[in-house]
Amino acid sequence: MRLIRAAVLGAAAAALAAPAAMAAPTVIKFSHVVAENTPKGRAANAFADIVNTFMGDEVRVEVYPNSQLYNDNKVLEAMLLGDVQMAAPSLSKFERYTKKLQVFDLPFLFRDIDAVDRFIASPAGQGLLASMERKGIVGLGYLHNGMKQLSASRPLRVPADANGLKFRIMSSDVIAAQFEAVRATPLKKPFSEVFTLLQTKAIDGQENTWSNIYSKKFYEVQPYITESNHGYLGYMVVTSKEFWNGLPEATRAKLKKALDIAIEYGNQVARVKAGTDRAAIARSGRSEIIQLTDEQRAQWVEAMKPVWKKFEREIGEDLIEAALRANEG
Ligand code: SIN
Repeated sequence: MRLIRAAVLGAAAAALAAPAAMAAPTVIKFSHVVAENTPKGRAANAFADIVNTFMGDEVRVEVYPNSQLYNDNKVLEAMLLGDVQMAAPSLSKFERYTKKLQVFDLPFLFRDIDAVDRFIASPAGQGLLASMERKGIVGLGYLHNGMKQLSASRPLRVPADANGLKFRIMSSDVIAAQFEAVRATPLKKPFSEVFTLLQTKAIDGQENTWSNIYSKKFYEVQPYITESNHGYLGYMVVTSKEFWNGLPEATRAKLKKALDIAIEYGNQVARVKAGTDRAAIARSGRSEIIQLTDEQRAQWVEAMKPVWKKFEREIGEDLIEAALRANEG
């Protein structure tokens, strides 16, 4: 990881010109909800390092992790009011601003992270960055976390095992429908509350990536994790149109370059942590990792896939088709 970080600063030095002097630096407050040692936490810190090192006279970035300032359900409102300037909520948390991003929540749509990469690089994926401009939100880039797993208080091997359980979910109607499809009860709750809800048994389970399950210690209060890889969790790094358009063009270009480098780094961290955080959870012995047989996995796909049809009109058939094409390689 240290080597990756050194390479990031080297790339930034080459890419960013000497700063133009300004009276007082513009401050960018970057608020997020996850731990620092996660793909998003690392990318946000790398972005701050790059900007503060190479553009510090012009712009200063302050990162607020762990829902210190806002949880994800509030941060977009705060950004539109100018209380923070950047955020990177998960793609599931933009539902109030666009239904299109729900394509990323459809269960078993993307085969793996490479397929997601191809989709976001496609014209359809790039077009989504501009999908909230009318609402004042500018998408600056996508960042990975990883594929989601299911954790619960009892082993989940087939969909019937989830029957009657309460699962915390992000604020996405697609994810709600996904759990309803297996006769479970979804509860939309902020990320900051998940550990306590699990610990007090107010809920029975949740879905998340290895790095979130590890960094927020969900595995310590969930005896079973099913390696389902049933969905994708990623982020859109966003800013407000008003803030962004108020910056000089040259500053915007340098910030975008710095962010691209930080995202590239965060994506490398995501790939590494999907393996290392899973391994750390397995080593801890606190949670049993359940691997599905092909036949069991097919049952989950069959139970959850009708959700696609339900949201086809809201999301757009064209987007779903573009996502499916990305699976082809
Ligand atoms: C995040 O990764 O930003 C949070 C995901 C969640 O709310 O589960």
